[in-house]
Amino acid sequence: MSAQPHSSNSGTATGATRKPIAVSGDRPTGQLHLGHYAGSLATRLELQETHEQYLLIADLQALTDHAEAPREVAANVLEVALDYLAIGIDSARSTICVQSHIPELAELTLYLLNLVSIGRLQRNPTVKAEIGQRRFKGGIPAGFLLYPVSQAADIAAFRASVVAVGEDQIPVIEQTNELVRSVNRICDQVLLPEVEARIGRVGRLPGADGGSKMSKSSGNVLRLSASSADIRKFVTRMYTDPTHLRAEDPGNTEGNVVFTYLDAFAPTDFDVAALRDRYRAGGLGDVELKKQLGDILDALLAPIRARRADFANDKGEVLRMLRVGTEQARGPAAVTLSALRRALGFNAFL
Ligand code: TRP
Repeated sequence: MSAQPHSSNSGTATGATRKPIAVSGDRPTGQLHLGHYAGSLATRLELQETHEQYLLIADLQALTDHAEAPREVAANVLEVALDYLAIGIDSARSTICVQSHIPELAELTLYLLNLVSIGRLQRNPTVKAEIGQRRFKGGIPAGFLLYPVSQAADIAAFRASVVAVGEDQIPVIEQTNELVRSVNRICDQVLLPEVEARIGRVGRLPGADGGSKMSKSSGNVLRLSASSADIRKFVTRMYTDPTHLRAEDPGNTEGNVVFTYLDAFAPTDFDVAALRDRYRAGGLGDVELKKQLGDILDALLAPIRARRADFANDKGEVLRMLRVGTEQARGPAAVTLSALRRALGFNAFL
């Protein structure tokens, strides 16, 4: 299996024949899981067909809440790259790149930081919720509070018009558009495009307990690399309807995590509605219901698991692909930066 870099068509920020641009990314704080798949990875596979796509492994952003664990973040860059390749991201069509090695992104962040107030940063609902979950010791890192600005730079630097994200990131994308409008107003031209958030079929996938979204901090995750046994164990733990004690009893499908997962992952020819009717009417037990979901998830993840293992056997090739992708991504980011400097009049001296 090869991870070939794509032939570059970067370098020009405009050009009538180019595909529209999509950007998306992940913090490398661990392997990716089903929540990522439902939230944005599946969308990225679609965007790969129609868009010029940049996938950013956001190691700098990961430091905003992992400042004390830089080596862990660094090690997870490769894990996220493996996850991308495993799901079918094709490095010949999507540029996979590493944020810390694209200094233009940090530079654009510095320009943007002057266009947002501290109050506005503090009011961002995503950031507020995440601060609540993280319980930072010794105060909120300044970098964490302003990560939406750095993310706006990630998006704007590539002049993306679409970004694939989970539902929880919508306020960050709104802030991106506020910054884009401010830049365009100050530059008196449409220098940067506004961006549309593309949310997955299920924007917020609950964990097995149904209580919260699937996230590593809740210990409630199913990694994309999970074995068949892990999948069965995960599904067995799932919250269904606590009053549905015998198979003959009618069951409730609302808030029933198994049905949420069936809606998210059943193939299009699988009749979830018929199963839902049977469950409601009585006569469908949890064991059989869970077996069906387990089969579906195993069919989804088995090829991903196999491809991941193949790529993991050729890490040198994956690292090479990351180097080439990162180098390629710097091209358009640098073009945006010089266009910005020109628009601000900052090019006059050099
Ligand atoms: N904040 C995103 C997350 O936690 C990761 C990310 C970084 C990102 N840069 C991005 C997402 C640019 C979309 C576009 O998942």
